[in-house]
Amino acid sequence: MMPLWTSDEMAKATGGNAQGVWNVNGISIDTRTLASGDLFVALKGDNRDGHDFVTAALEKGAGAALVSSVPEGISPHAPLLVVDDTLDALVAMGRAARARSAAGIVAVTGSAGKTTTKEMLRLVLGREGKISASAASYNNHWGVPLSLARMERDAAYGVFEIGMNHEGEIRALVAQVRPHVAVVTTIAPAHLEYFGTLEAIADAKAEIFEGLEPGGTAILPYDNPHYARLEAHARACGVTNILTFGSRDGADARLLAGKPDGDLQMITADIRGKRMVFAIGAQGAHIASNAMAVLLAAEAVGVDVVRASQGLFGFAPLKGRGARLFVGDIELIDESYNANPASVSVALGLLQGARPKAGGRRIAVLGDMLELGSKGADLHRAIASDPAAAATDFFFLCGPQMRALWEVLPVSRRGAYSELSSGLNEGLLSLLRPGDVVLVKGSFGSRMSVVVEALKARDAAMTD
Ligand SMILES: Nc1ncnc2c1ncn2[C@@H]1O[C@H](COP(=O)(O)OP(=O)(O)O)[C@@H](O)[C@H]1O
Ligand SMILES: [Mg+2]
Repeated sequence: MMPLWTSDEMAKATGGNAQGVWNVNGISIDTRTLASGDLFVALKGDNRDGHDFVTAALEKGAGAALVSSVPEGISPHAPLLVVDDTLDALVAMGRAARARSAAGIVAVTGSAGKTTTKEMLRLVLGREGKISASAASYNNHWGVPLSLARMERDAAYGVFEIGMNHEGEIRALVAQVRPHVAVVTTIAPAHLEYFGTLEAIADAKAEIFEGLEPGGTAILPYDNPHYARLEAHARACGVTNILTFGSRDGADARLLAGKPDGDLQMITADIRGKRMVFAIGAQGAHIASNAMAVLLAAEAVGVDVVRASQGLFGFAPLKGRGARLFVGDIELIDESYNANPASVSVALGLLQGARPKAGGRRIAVLGDMLELGSKGADLHRAIASDPAAAATDFFFLCGPQMRALWEVLPVSRRGAYSELSSGLNEGLLSLLRPGDVVLVKGSFGSRMSVVVEALKARDAAMTD
């Protein structure tokens, strides 16, 4: 079997200098997760310099290290590729991996649902052939080239998440990915602080069309208020294959119904005129919406849409993104990974759709949605009038911005308020009773996982 990269190929791709002749079979930027035979890429971060870890990486069995200078104490015969700049070299490797690949390539962007959609595609396309997909949320200036450079040379499919905090970022990344299919999951207030308006966010996401391969397909959220803007951008980029998903009449993949059935969601959809019913292992309208995009994307890379829908059966919600678990006598909906107004709304819908056992209640534990800028207080307050919020019996809120929501909540629905997530635990734990369903959600920086851990510890203490 051919290795992922030979020293020769890497030297050619990067213009660097290879010491010795070697092969690598994976790529790592972190010695803690490095596997034997990996290339260790010494990246310079804000706080750390990967060059300080090259010795450790080689001791751990790295097949080689990509460096911009030879760190002190390293044997002159160590397997190294010396380049001017390691990030630039990683980008060059990503481009070379893309150039040598015959895979059907899908790129996924959007304000929420990128990782979920990417993981659904991994599942669906992985049944059809070898797939390389981004790990975790590796969607930024190093995550995208790293994911590309990891793409196996004989992959049949490649799926890459592309994110952004500023305009121009997607443009640069999609030029590396050169997808055949570009999916925009949704446009919603995330990073609003920087962009100011949703239109500006839509414009930045639309950069993804600039990198579509000729004849490529754009897959767009038809229900989104900024759909027309996205479509106009796609057309301006010369894209003619534009497919839509949503609930509105006229969508190419039209969601007709999504009904909970135990752990599954039964979805009825009309996919380009074909009526389909299938099951997916996660709840919520957002899951159903992402699934519509996935079916169109799968079809666009040549997969039969019925087979694709069957693949979704095995999809389970991801950690911190709707994963549900019974911890002792309560049910936990773990949405602690991140939050913005759109995803809080879908999460409250999940809570509304949950079935508390006899005597149980619906409890929402929410932390600040960050990076919303001057509209922050209004967007937090607006949660109170979300239709799904009416089903929540108690709110436990933390963070400076959640105070705006706290102030408009009726006293009868107030659980507790605290500046920090850790300050909620005591009041929450004492209020809980068997049968309750607890949703935990907030931006990553709001540290809502502290509450998730407390709920798990409560169960452990009860069962000990
Ligand atoms: N299509 C969607 N629209 C709105 N919210 C969504 C959508 N898909 C997922 N979400 C919400 O966003 C959260 C993060 O999902 P994720 O797939 O990790 O998004 P991203 O990778 O874009 O940050 C989920 O926990 C869920 O609450
Ligand atoms: Mg992500």
